[in-house]
This record gives sequence, C-alpha cells and structure tokens, in this order.
Amino acid sequence: MKPMKPMKILLLGCDGQVGWELQRSLAPLGELWALGRRMANNPQGLCADFTQLDALAQTVRTIRPDVIVNAAAHTAVDKAESEPELAHMLNAHAPGVLASEAQRLGALLVHYSTDYVFDGNGERPWRENDATAPLNVYGQTKLAGELAVAQCARYLIFRTSWVYAARGGNFARTMLRLAREREVLQVIDDQIGAPTGAELLADVTAHAIRQASTTNVDLSGIYHLAANGFTSWFEYANHVITLARQAEQADTAIKIKAQTITPVPTTAFPTPARRPHNSRLDTRKLQTTFGLTLPDWQTGVNRMLKEINYGHSV
Ligand SMILES: NC(=O)c1ccc[n+]([C@@H]2O[C@H](COP(=O)([O-])OP(=O)(O)OC[C@H]3O[C@@H](n4cnc5c(N)ncnc54)[C@H](OP(=O)(O)O)[C@@H]3O)[C@@H](O)[C@H]2O)c1
Repeated sequence: MKPMKPMKILLLGCDGQVGWELQRSLAPLGELWALGRRMANNPQGLCADFTQLDALAQTVRTIRPDVIVNAAAHTAVDKAESEPELAHMLNAHAPGVLASEAQRLGALLVHYSTDYVFDGNGERPWRENDATAPLNVYGQTKLAGELAVAQCARYLIFRTSWVYAARGGNFARTMLRLAREREVLQVIDDQIGAPTGAELLADVTAHAIRQASTTNVDLSGIYHLAANGFTSWFEYANHVITLARQAEQADTAIKIKAQTITPVPTTAFPTPARRPHNSRLDTRKLQTTFGLTLPDWQTGVNRMLKEINYGHSV
C-alpha cells in the first residue's frame, strides 16, 4: 500500500442527488473543489457548465486535481428523446473532455453510468462485460460517455440504478404524495431493479478513490454499484407507503389502502423513452475488488424515509 498524500479533488455536478452526498463523503480525503453548473456559485467563478467545453477544460487546468469526480449528467430520460444533442453533449462529449484533461494530468477520473446501457432482456443480473444495447437516447449517450471516459488511463465507472436521495424529487417522495392525494394508485410491476441511495453511492465512491490512490494495482474499469436485492416499482411503492402508514398510526393522512395499489405493466404508462424491464445489476466485482458489502435496498430507503419524516414535509 502506498502512503496516502493529501489529494486535490474536483467534484462536478455538486448540486445533484449524488453530487450533494459526494460533497460530504469526499471532504475527508483532501482538498475538495465542489463545482456546480452555475458559475456565480463556484469558487473563483470557475466554469463547470458541461455545455461550455473549452471553459470546462480550462477549469480542470486551473485546479490541476489528482482526482476528478463527475456527478453531472443529463438525467431526464424522457426529455433526452427530444433533445439528443444536449444529452450527448452532457453525457458523452463533456466526460470526453474530462478524460482528455485527466490523461494530461495523470489524474483519476470517476464517473457514473446506468443499467440503461443494457436492453433489459431476461432476468439475470447484468455483469460488467455483458453486451450493451441501450433502448433509449439517455442510455445511448451514457454508453458513449463510458467509452469516452475509458480513453484515459486511470478511471472508475460506477453503473447504478434507481437513484434516490432525501433531497430532490424521487419516486419514493412522489408515492408518498400520491398516497395522500389519491384513493387508488397504479404502479408498474414489470420493471425490476434495486433502489440505490445517493449516500451509498457517495460513500462507496470515497472508499474506492482511497483504495485506488493507495494501491499499486490498477483498479481502472467499470463496476456495477447498487444496493443489495431487487424489487419492482410496485413493491417499492408498497414498501414506502406501508412504512409511512405505520409511522402515522392513527393519522389518516394516507388515504390509499394497500388493496387499492394495483400492479400494472409498463405498457399502461406510455412514455417517450423505452425503459428496460431488467435493471438488475450483479455487484460481485465491486464487492470483491474493494472489500465492501452492499446493504439491502430497504436499509437505505427506510433511513431516507425517516429522514424526510415519511413525506410530511414533501
Ligand atoms: N437518477 C437515477 O435514477 C440514476 C440511475 C442510474 C444512473 N444515474 C447516474 O448517476 C449520476 C448522478 O445522477 P443524479 O441522480 O445525481 O442526477 P441529478 O440529481 O439529476 O443531478 C445531475 C446534476 O447534473 C447537473 N447538470 C445538468 N446540466 C448540466 C450542465 N449543463 N452543466 C453542468 N451540470 C449540469 C445538474 O445541475 P442542476 O442541479 O443545476 O440542474 C445536477 O446537479 C449520473 O451520471 C446519472 O446518469 C442516475
């Protein structure tokens, strides 16, 4: 193991679900520069807007980080269908610029991707080297981003799924709101994956960066990173609403009854982007390489629900 010297870390996309948690988890590793899209909020007015590729490159040259962590992305899956150029710029071109700059500096580049690079067929959890075949523009641009990032010598790509956080809009919060507004609810039950907390992603990222920076072994590659276990959106919604109902006890704010939450197929809700049925990720490579145990998806979801007071403040 190499001795650990203080690192300079550049975090991009610091205001997103994952970026926000990374601000916390990366702070103990060294000198952290956390930048978001809005220049006015950034130290020294540095540009971290992924549509300004020259200025983005200049920011990396100014900071000269040892590690670049990219949590910025075009994540609006349906919107990406109607703005593919913008999605490609954010999810592929800009990560390509980061890869070139990381290569010049000899820096480690950390990037996030998605199970949407796969076609969602079958029921087996996807392994890192399975064939990719994205069903939608978002998935295509994220796949192009993976290829661009892999052009630099030192990189970690974490493919994840169904991200949630206490902060920001997400599926669990939407279900809690609807459970108070409606008496019936239809939820898709033929898409299977693992709800994964931004906190977990951030904590694992910090651990992996530390390990990659203190070992002489090259750990570069793609890793599947998701909470343990699998569920459907329907089961996930039931889980969230059941816990909220238990927490409320005599409170009648939750109108919906368990039997009025109905499972429906994906076809019941047509959307601009096609979504994969099988979002299961096989995380054994990550757990073995980094010596980590990934908690069950319920652990993080339950914690997040408590943190947001079961949506009372939604
Ligand atoms: N969310 C999921 O379910 C999911 C699933 C699988 C993989 N992932 C991947 O995980 C990573 C983190 O996702 P997340 O859930 O944290 O996403 P998020 O909450 O949507 O955050 C994305 C961030 O990108 C920023 N951004 C958007 N346009 C930008 C631009 N032009 N320049 C610079 N920054 C820009 C956003 O800034 P603003 O705050 O200013 O809008 C936001 O801070 C992404 O790579 C995503 O593809 C996410």
